[in-house]
Amino acid sequence: MTDPIITAAVAARLAAHAPYSRFLVGAALRCDDGSIHAGCNVENAAYPEGVCAEASAISAMVLAGGRRITAIAIAGAGPRPCTPCGGCRQKLSEFALPEAEILMVDEAATVLMRSALGELLPYAFNAAAFAARDSALDNS
Ligand code: THU
Repeated sequence: MTDPIITAAVAARLAAHAPYSRFLVGAALRCDDGSIHAGCNVENAAYPEGVCAEASAISAMVLAGGRRITAIAIAGAGPRPCTPCGGCRQKLSEFALPEAEILMVDEAATVLMRSALGELLPYAFNAAAFAARDSALDNS
């Protein structure tokens, strides 16, 4: 059976607004409560204002009250896996452990690549840095 986050990512891709790049992306993540939240890329004529599919799915999750991502599927097209951009890896790391599964699929739901966040973003900068700062400040 196809993982529902894959089905949701493939469907979300069809809603993408990508008239400039013509590179449609869908993403769907699973939260630790089992809920699924999807997003698509939304481009803008002012190019830097565009939003990636992963960021869009994260926003949907946060709006619904979710805070912990256990897996995400990212749907592109063709044989090359659509790997998350650097900014999205960082955005995911705010809500996902290094073990979180990242599935890259094509437009027909074929899994092209499987990875984990820790593999795609080693040595992530995260909230642990602030805890370390606080303990350093306490000891000064
Ligand atoms: N894009 C995503 O939405 N997610 C990715 O993982 C890679 C790239 C979008 C951004 C832009 O709208 C288009 O794909 C081309 O870069």
